Amino acid sequence: MSDQACEAKPAAQLAAASPEPRFEPKIVAFLCNWCTYTGADLAGTSRIQYPPNVRIIRLMCSGSVDPTYVLKPLLDGADGVLIGGCHPGDCHYQSGNYKARRRTIALKEILRSAGIDETRVWLRWISASEGQRFADTVTEMTEFLREKGPNPMRTEWAV
Ligand code: FES
Repeated sequence: MSDQACEAKPAAQLAAASPEPRFEPKIVAFLCNWCTYTGADLAGTSRIQYPPNVRIIRLMCSGSVDPTYVLKPLLDGADGVLIGGCHPGDCHYQSGNYKARRRTIALKEILRSAGIDETRVWLRWISASEGQRFADTVTEMTEFLREKGPNPMRTEWAV
């Protein structure tokens, strides 16, 4: 056997033996300062485990999440967007979370009519004391997006 054949064989065996790397979704999360961000902080300080797939952006209120904030990461290749706010009735600015809910419903409708998968956008109410709920939400969303696979918008909508 030639030297080249000897070197090529272990590389081929390694390639065949190593499994495909698991798809790891990227999630962009817009979290309100007073509830969900503090809940995420509590999850961290309580050492509650959750997947490291989430990139958190802190906002003062879920009501300040403009639809373009959601579209931009999706177009840039994020696999999902999570919007987190205070439970209904608990918004520190009275009605910001109701505004977020209405905007999210409208945005999902627009995404659906444009043929874009709206299930990649999640809106969840998570309070400052619900660290476990935050961790569970991120875990659930990560699993959901792993099943779905990479966001096709990045390539389909590239200009
Ligand atoms: S302050 Fe949390 S949703 Fe408005």
